[in-house]
Amino acid sequence: MNYHVVNHPLVRVRVSVLRDRNTGLELFRRTLRELSALVAYEALRDLGESPQTIETPLASCPGAVLQRKIIIMPILRAGLGMADAVSEILPEAAIGHIGMCRNEQTLLPHEYLLRLPPGVGEAEVLVVDPMLATGNSASAALDRLKKAGATRLRLICLVGCEDGVRQISRCHPDVPIFLAALDPSLNEHGYIMPGLGDAGDRYYGT
Ligand code: URA
Repeated sequence: MNYHVVNHPLVRVRVSVLRDRNTGLELFRRTLRELSALVAYEALRDLGESPQTIETPLASCPGAVLQRKIIIMPILRAGLGMADAVSEILPEAAIGHIGMCRNEQTLLPHEYLLRLPPGVGEAEVLVVDPMLATGNSASAALDRLKKAGATRLRLICLVGCEDGVRQISRCHPDVPIFLAALDPSLNEHGYIMPGLGDAGDRYYGT
């Protein structure tokens, strides 16, 4: 399976803060953003670069520029906080939006919004969603983005579970998954166990 759990103490302590039921709104928001940037940093380790000669105030030297345009695609709503954080380390990235809600009975996803920046076919597309639970929403979002022409996709999440990783790996073996933590199971309501609860509710205070 094509997934990577970031192995770093700064990641583990932030996952613990997010998991803690006593973590309040302000700390939850700040920590989710910090963690998103740390996971994205790892997920972008192999981004293509092109050489470019740079003139410093004193001399020429070899430098680098990113090869491709970057598009950040948050899955609404919980992905929005991650998109802001990832754009802090990629200020040149365009940000699209895909709205997926899940039917709480069937747990199946329904797309209610799609806004794509131009150039999706040539860009590195980073799909961001804090929770990879059943994998149904992320898989549907990846299907939709591929239909729109995306060929270079990465899925960046914070907490995943084995079912979700299996689902994405089966339907989208070409899309690497990056996680801060991998949990063992889902409960009967589709929540990751032990997880951190509802990421959107905790991020927005709803
Ligand atoms: N979405 C969440 O916010 N939390 C879960 O555990 C699963 C899906």
